[in-house]
Amino acid sequence: MALKITVIGTGYLGATHAAAMAELGFEVLGLDVVPEKIKMLQRGEVPMYEPGLEELLRRHVAGIEGASGRLRFTTDYAEVAAFGDVHFVCVNTPQRHGEYACDMSYVEAAFASLAPHLTGPALVVGKSTVPVGSADRLAAYLAEHAPAGADAELAWNPEFLREGFAVKDTLHPDRIVAGVRSERAEKLLREVYATPIEEGSPFVVTDFPTAELVKTSANSFLATKISFINAMAEVCEAAGGDVAKLAEAIGHDDRIGKKFLRAGIGFGGGCLPKDIRAFMARAGELGADQALTFLREIDSINMRQRGQMVELARQALGGGPFLGKRVAVLGATFKPDSDDVRDSPALNVAGQIHLQGGQVTVYDPKGMENARRIFPTLGYADTALDAVRGADVVLHLTEWREFRELDPAALGEVAAARVVLDGRNALDPEQWRRAGWTYRAMGRPTA
Ligand code: UDX
Repeated sequence: MALKITVIGTGYLGATHAAAMAELGFEVLGLDVVPEKIKMLQRGEVPMYEPGLEELLRRHVAGIEGASGRLRFTTDYAEVAAFGDVHFVCVNTPQRHGEYACDMSYVEAAFASLAPHLTGPALVVGKSTVPVGSADRLAAYLAEHAPAGADAELAWNPEFLREGFAVKDTLHPDRIVAGVRSERAEKLLREVYATPIEEGSPFVVTDFPTAELVKTSANSFLATKISFINAMAEVCEAAGGDVAKLAEAIGHDDRIGKKFLRAGIGFGGGCLPKDIRAFMARAGELGADQALTFLREIDSINMRQRGQMVELARQALGGGPFLGKRVAVLGATFKPDSDDVRDSPALNVAGQIHLQGGQVTVYDPKGMENARRIFPTLGYADTALDAVRGADVVLHLTEWREFRELDPAALGEVAAARVVLDGRNALDPEQWRRAGWTYRAMGRPTA
């Protein structure tokens, strides 16, 4: 009989995972402790913007016309335990307030709510990003609190999905990492992921700590690549070099690769910044903090980029205070194809200029609602053209396709001054210069 799957926590990761599991043919029950979220999902609505996710959900949610009906939602842990053979824990682990370490309280609450209901054989699979050592501890917790005892087993299966590509990354993962302690657990995970494995996704079997570390080290490596190229941008800036050309040239070396070498205002979002900080905190607890001191530098290079963008804007406006200056900001989200503004470099730069007296007007294709909520005192416009109207300088801070397709000549007609600062190295300098704009980007020559 086909496996039945539950997904605990239907945020970004869980909602995508639940829909993907239904797409792979399983009966799926998703759980969240927030009833409003469950009601939305039952209507086939997604609480965030993610390309393709709503369509995928609507193909499977029970009660929606034409749907397979394989995907249902609940708030009841007893129902989840009775229903599933495999339970994926997908709750979030945000940065703890005022600290580097991550907040494990949602993971702990999920295990505490599920365990007492596990009376028969079950595989609980952790997907959340956690400090190394958590899986060992949670396995001991399950053994002690699940009535099924050893029949209720734990596996650790980190998730590597990127926002904006969540559906594709879940259905066609680069790799599947299975931290397991028994052949039974491995067999069950191979069954769950049979389709992607058949289609070529590598399946890497590890112990618990390695599985946890694969996730944090992958994110640390990606963060390192970005801060490395941003450090090179700083040197290029000082020496008169061009970081975009430099990235292209070093990227031809397969060992380095072209990806994740785009210099600019740096990384943000709900994962990379908090994951590298939580990793440092955990290494400290393990007495291995010296091994990760370089991550402190990666973090500080990243944060410095935002300040440098503010300074570039100040210089572009003549070097004085921002007071009375009109600044157009294109982009609010931490990356394109997402409405996520968590730790967004774009919004941070906009906020710094606003707090220094600049009159900032922001436009973003999908992030306006979230940006308004967390930064209500900024100015907002309904279109890029409206944001640019009357602006003394234009800042391009999130690399949406819509911004690359803008007509610089039309924008030049409405701007007060034709100065554009490309914080993502994503616009075509020649196109903007031809239309009479002064184009500046970090780490690139002025003309
Ligand atoms: C990341 C990891 O990529 C993913 O594997 C993990 O599961 C979660 O964290 P995500 O947060 O969606 O995914 O964003 P990602 O695409 O990694 O981009 C992170 C940030 O880096 C963005 O702010 C982006 O603009 C920035 N970035 C990326 C750069 O500044 N330069 C680059 O070359 C690439």
